[in-house]
Amino acid sequence: MYVCSCFGITEEEVRARAAAGAGTPRSIASACKAGTDCGSCVRRIQALLGRGAAPRRHAAGCRAVAGSAAPLDEAA
Ligand code: FES
Repeated sequence: MYVCSCFGITEEEVRARAAAGAGTPRSIASACKAGTDCGSCVRRIQALLGRGAAPRRHAAGCRAVAGSAAPLDEAA
């Protein structure tokens, strides 16, 4: 499955880069450019690296996420 559609980077490639020592989104970007164009994949890359940015915010009840999700939920 693609993580970064801008550069055609898959989850497997991100995991392989992480196993080779790229432990941050910045180092993944340096290795394969993922996350350096539109940036929409950076949170997914963080999650794959075990940095858990999105889930942690959810668990903490981040108001920004909850506030922005409400209109989308209503529209769906
Ligand atoms: S989807 Fe990764 S930079 Fe756009």
